[in-house]
Amino acid sequence: MSIVQLSFAAFTAVGLLSIIGIVVIVTGRGPKNLNWKKNVDKKALKEDKSQTNFLEPDLPKGETETVVDEIEEPAGESDGAVKLEEKVIYEEISEEEAGVTRRQFLTKALRISFGAFAGIQAISWLGFLWPKVSGGFGSKIDAGSIEEIKDQLFQADGSVIPAFIPSARAYVLPLDQTAAANSQFSSGSTVADGLVAVYQRCVHLGCRVPWCNSSQGFECPCHGSKYNMVGEYFAGPAPRNLDRFNVSNVNGRFIIDTGTIIESPRAPGMSVKYPQGLSCIALTTEE
Ligand code: FES
Repeated sequence: MSIVQLSFAAFTAVGLLSIIGIVVIVTGRGPKNLNWKKNVDKKALKEDKSQTNFLEPDLPKGETETVVDEIEEPAGESDGAVKLEEKVIYEEISEEEAGVTRRQFLTKALRISFGAFAGIQAISWLGFLWPKVSGGFGSKIDAGSIEEIKDQLFQADGSVIPAFIPSARAYVLPLDQTAAANSQFSSGSTVADGLVAVYQRCVHLGCRVPWCNSSQGFECPCHGSKYNMVGEYFAGPAPRNLDRFNVSNVNGRFIIDTGTIIESPRAPGMSVKYPQGLSCIALTTEE
């Protein structure tokens, strides 16, 4: 199992556990000794009851009883009239009968908000990781038949136009054996069958670097960094060569492993000549 798959499995497990935990907290359903919701509610209710006139303002209908007592007067003091005294008796009621207090309502609302937020986060994680296990950027990408890619690269006038692979965010370019032997990429697996895959992102500040057909290299319009055909640094503020990916030939198919981005320092010399014609950008910040 790859690291990406393991990460996905771990995030999925954490996400599911979070959701289960949230459901248990919000609904109050779970093991008996974990049912702290009821204890908290009882505590809140007890505190509320300690206030004077706890039920008096909103006393539900039928919860009071008016009792009229006839007052006995000492013998001999009776004037024939009957004196009445009115008492109001409050009955003890259950939590359900009392309804939801403001504190309980706010606690519940807070839990639901937290649960919704955590759920959205879990879904975002899954959405972020999902393409990596389903063949998107971050996995191994089949760029197509090696023969077909080579046919597409070389033009009739001898110039080269890279094959852009959108799902890999990479340009595929030729690097013959002689040039590869003189480059930083003579060892390792960044060359397969005379082809390399260069990451489209400029290593200076991340602009997408377009191909310049006349100079036969990459020229960044943002701050003027320039690279040769295989992404080797030539000029500008870029700190290193364009990044690249490991590649392989699998049954005649060109496979780009976008799971690892390969960085390399500025090339001490160009393994492929640059520029081979006019530059596409006027602005150049050479160092
Ligand atoms: Fe390309 Fe600055 S982002 S040179």
